[in-house]
This record gives sequence, C-alpha cells and structure tokens, in this order.
Amino acid sequence: MSRDYPFILTPSLLSSDFSRIGDELAALEQAGLEWVHWDVMDGAFVPNITFGPPVIKACRQKSKLFFDVHLMIEQPDRYLGDFVNAGANLLCVHAEACTHLERTVSEITRLGAKCGVALNPHTPLDMVEYLLPQLDMVLIMSVNPGFGGQKFIPFTKGKMQRLRAMIQEQGGTTHIQVDGGVTPENIRDLADHGANVFVSGSAFFGFPPYAQRYRTFMDALDH
Ligand code: DX5
Ligand code: ZN
Repeated sequence: MSRDYPFILTPSLLSSDFSRIGDELAALEQAGLEWVHWDVMDGAFVPNITFGPPVIKACRQKSKLFFDVHLMIEQPDRYLGDFVNAGANLLCVHAEACTHLERTVSEITRLGAKCGVALNPHTPLDMVEYLLPQLDMVLIMSVNPGFGGQKFIPFTKGKMQRLRAMIQEQGGTTHIQVDGGVTPENIRDLADHGANVFVSGSAFFGFPPYAQRYRTFMDALDH
C-alpha cells in the first residue's frame, strides 16, 4: 500500500545537555531537523521532573523548530494555556491523566495548538477511537514514560499497526508517533507497523554530529 503521510524524526531533549538547551536547539535546526520533542514531567504522573512553560518560552525566542510538547503531567487542563502561550506548537496529553478527554482535546484546539493524545504501553486504543477525527497525532508509548534510554516494548508494534488501520478506515490524517527505545536499527520496522513520527532521545543525542545522525535515521527508513 502506498504511503500518503510524511516521516518525521523528533529528537527528545530529555537526552540533550540541559545546561545548553538553546545551543542544542540551534544545532538541531542547523542539522536540518524540523521538529523537537519536549518531555514535560511533573514528578506525579511520572517519577521524574523536567521543565515547564518558562523554559519553553525562553527557548521559543531562539528557535523556529516545531515544538512537539509531550505532557507527562496530572490534570493537564490546568496548564494548557500556559504551554500554548509559551510557544508550544503541539500539545500531547496522556489519556490516563484526563477524566474528560474530549473536553481537553477541544480546548487545545480552541487555544490554537495542534493536539495529540498519548497512550501508555498497556492502554487500549479504544481510548482514542472516537476522538481520531479531532486529533492531529496519537502517541504510542513504547516504554513506560519517565526516563530516557529504556528498552523498547515489542507488543506496542501491534498497537501501531491496528491504529494505522483504524485511521485509514476512517479516512483520517492523524499522525502516529512512537516514543521510547527508537533506534536506526528498529525504525524501519516501526514504520512498517504504521508509525510515521519517531521520537528519539538517547539514540540521537548520544551520537553527534546531529546532521549525520539525522541522516542515519532517515536512510534507515528508506531501506
Ligand atoms: C520517556 C519520554 C521519551 C524518552 C525517549 O518518558 O517520553 O521521549 O525521552 O528516550 P529514548 O529515545 O532514549 O527511549
Ligand atoms: Zn516523550
């Protein structure tokens, strides 16, 4: 079947040098990347804490990259406006953190950002089935969120495959993002299972120069 959607690599800043985030963003842009993935963690939804709207806002002044913001926080409704005002282009909330998910999704769209919903590895696709027409992206977590450098959980490939079939059945254009344990070695297989937006943290930032590493990932997709 021919593919009518783009392949996008979105490096996760979680594995970047936090003391020089502005420089890292400039280096990504220089290397030809178009998206960057921000892992926002609150120490409650996940057992780790990273950054919030002020850091994103400060970096927004210095970068033209598409800010793909993954909110691993409880009750994200409290902060949607803050993240959009900080310059997030896409907000992705966890289904497990939202009691009234349709309300949250509608609010993100009303605020003018693209909207994604993330599913933990064990969370069924049913959680997003009825919302697909409203979603720009579904994030399939392929590790339990909270940390970079974890091992890919194989059963999540079946979820990507079924989600792609659901999207095609509905005639939609929703992106399928895969996050956790993505490498140049498995990226082709993930694409074959329907994913088209690939997050990579440790397997990207650990292997400079970034332009070359970006090419390694994209070349692997062509095979
Ligand atoms: C995990 C984060 C991921 C993580 C990916 O909670 O959502 O974005 O940084 O890191 P790697 O690519 O190292 O698994
Ligand atoms: Zn993430």
